[in-house]
Amino acid sequence: MDFPGTRLVWPGRGVAEKKAFEASKGFLAPVSTPDLSGHLLIEGDNLEVLKLLLPHLSEKIRIIYIDPPYNTGNRMVYHDRFSSKSEGSRSVDRHDSWLSMIFPLLILARRFLRRDGVLFVSIDDNEVHHLRALMDEVFGEENFISMVTWRKKVVRGRGSRHILPQTEYIVVFARETAALPPFSEPLTPSMRKDYPYADDRGPYKKIPFAKSGTRQSPRPNLLYPITAPDGTTIPCPTHQWRWSRETFDRRQDEILIQKNTKGRWTVYTKQYLMTEGAERRRTPESYYDRATTTDGTREMKEMFGEVLLDFPKPSRLIRDLIGWASPPGSSDPVMDFFAGSGTTGQSVLELNHEDGGKRPSILVQAGIPTAHPGFPTIWSICRERVCRTRDRIVKEGGIPLPVIESRLVSTP
Ligand SMILES: C[S@@+](CC[C@H](N)C(=O)[O-])C[C@H]1O[C@@H](n2cnc3c(N)ncnc32)[C@H](O)[C@@H]1O
Repeated sequence: MDFPGTRLVWPGRGVAEKKAFEASKGFLAPVSTPDLSGHLLIEGDNLEVLKLLLPHLSEKIRIIYIDPPYNTGNRMVYHDRFSSKSEGSRSVDRHDSWLSMIFPLLILARRFLRRDGVLFVSIDDNEVHHLRALMDEVFGEENFISMVTWRKKVVRGRGSRHILPQTEYIVVFARETAALPPFSEPLTPSMRKDYPYADDRGPYKKIPFAKSGTRQSPRPNLLYPITAPDGTTIPCPTHQWRWSRETFDRRQDEILIQKNTKGRWTVYTKQYLMTEGAERRRTPESYYDRATTTDGTREMKEMFGEVLLDFPKPSRLIRDLIGWASPPGSSDPVMDFFAGSGTTGQSVLELNHEDGGKRPSILVQAGIPTAHPGFPTIWSICRERVCRTRDRIVKEGGIPLPVIESRLVSTP
């Protein structure tokens, strides 16, 4: 594959790249022909599983969220330390092993995405620099959307003599920026309060009709006198109005002319809370602080009575990301091939329940053993979490998509 531009070079890169294109050594059972009719949970190594899924789901996925091991060097239930080992005469450092793990997966992830698809990757300081450089190559720099900073902790912890780490990132790349629809999210309750007036079209707020900001040279068609209700003329108090005379005349029902506190005639437009039958939404910001790792842990305790996996993501975070990229009520397929405890599965089910959507999901998680007698593998935690969420939604009167299980069977 040809990646134009700057190349990140490490020992093992060529071998890692080839892995994306080699045939899988296994098959899926009992569901061998996956589709997007429900929530498909697949147990197995993600690279092998993705290769088996690709012929069926190439360019069919709208949103991929992944939370790969961060390569922190910590010992966790799952593998989070990529070793420094000797390969021939060269020493392979732990970053190289991590890059070799993620490279073929990123190549495959891109091939699953629709033209209007998007990939969100959670990452922290250990590998963020490598990840971005590699994603620039695989997706193309022009498809970089943002790097969201997530404030994962609000308490002062330990971890550095110099700066206490409290944030990590979500790197966002489009399959094709121009085809990716704008992101949006609901207004906050305090933003709704900013619409204090109402008429027969519902709540609205007043926006000054005179354009503020830099004093560029005025556009002649945006500078004209307006007649006040008492017949006097209102000159533009700034360098220009916001709309042309034609638009002003055409959208008279959105114009308000009132006296301000100083008794001076002032022109406003009404910005309605509802547009085209739905509530106005806003563009998300690159700083996220609505949920922390403590929330993720608390959710797991609430569901299972104990913490079965370290640092699960808070479902609110993933629900928000999916909600930014897919409109309310959507059927956009979502995929996560580092599913862990199944937070993405829970998030998709809950978001669908909340907004009437029918987003199917595909979750892949390896059957890594745990020390817990009730949950022998991480995959079993993931499956249980998704099933419990589904059962709760059914009790609440929802009709979730079916949960379908499959697993990778490796052939020798
Ligand atoms: C950081 S955790 C994901 C946590 C998840 N977002 C959550 O909220 O629970 C990464 C997960 O990927 C899994 N994993 C690592 N390598 C894998 C592989 N090759 N195939 C499938 N799963 C893998 C690990 O077992 C681990 O559960």
